[in-house]
Amino acid sequence: MNVHIIGGGNLGVAIAIGIAKYSKGNQVTITRRNTTSILHLEQLGVTVSTDNKHGIQEADIIILTIKPYQIDTVLNEILPVISNKVIASAVSGVSIENLQKKIGNSNSAIRIMPNIASQFGASATCIAFNEQHKEKAQNVVALFQDLGTAPIIDEKLMDAATVLAASGTAFALRYIRASMQAGIEIGFDWQTALAISAQTVKGAAEMIMEENIHPEQLIDRVTTPQGCTIAGLSEMETHGFSSSLVRGIKAALKKIKG
Ligand SMILES: NC(=O)c1ccc[n+]([C@@H]2O[C@H](COP(=O)([O-])OP(=O)(O)OC[C@H]3O[C@@H](n4cnc5c(N)ncnc54)[C@H](OP(=O)(O)O)[C@@H]3O)[C@@H](O)[C@H]2O)c1
Repeated sequence: MNVHIIGGGNLGVAIAIGIAKYSKGNQVTITRRNTTSILHLEQLGVTVSTDNKHGIQEADIIILTIKPYQIDTVLNEILPVISNKVIASAVSGVSIENLQKKIGNSNSAIRIMPNIASQFGASATCIAFNEQHKEKAQNVVALFQDLGTAPIIDEKLMDAATVLAASGTAFALRYIRASMQAGIEIGFDWQTALAISAQTVKGAAEMIMEENIHPEQLIDRVTTPQGCTIAGLSEMETHGFSSSLVRGIKAALKKIKG
């Protein structure tokens, strides 16, 4: 497939690298106005350009990874030269209805919410589209399945997806940082504590995804009666471990909804 990414910043670059590494057989073009910092992508076979229209007529999927206030400028530039294109937008807060109005009925609007772990083939990319674009959305779903998982969701959950999957990356990293900090308190240097904490989280996540069971079933496997794990868990819950996470996620959602 021919994939055209407009907006070569944090997310656009992560998606471009992810496609180059984990979704073989695609041609990727990525654009931004100042390309100096992303020219290294050419080593992965990605075409880097300052011209948003460069080769866009050949694109099977156009991915928008620009800021919300940049969308009108970019669409005004590309719309005169495209028709019958699938436009997958990661732009926060721009609804399918709004995007579809902007791009006209000759193009198909799809909403995606990837995260920067796309770069490592490990994003949870929520995807939403209207029923009439179901068939055209399949290529987008397949592409993002190569970059991790790609659940199809109801658009009304897009804000929740932003919090759980995009902000969620920061929440998970904060857990790893706290675990590292504790590791230093109990005797490790930070590098060793960080390596152990990160690998432990990766291992826990892989078990969940592999076995597809409730986390508590796995927790039970590592929790010996009267042992150290239950003592640690109980102390953490006494200090609001789960409830602070739930409250944080709900506060983030409240913020996004304005
Ligand atoms: N970062 C994430 O984890 C994440 C996750 C989910 C969704 N999102 C959404 O994805 C979008 C991008 O986020 P980001 O964090 O990647 O932002 P970012 O790093 O600021 O990237 C935006 C990029 O767009 C480029 N750009 C601006 N105007 C342009 C134009 N006219 N033509 C081509 N490129 C242009 C900018 O580069 P130049 O100034 O050089 O043109 C910049 O590199 C946002 O809407 C955000 O809400 C981000």
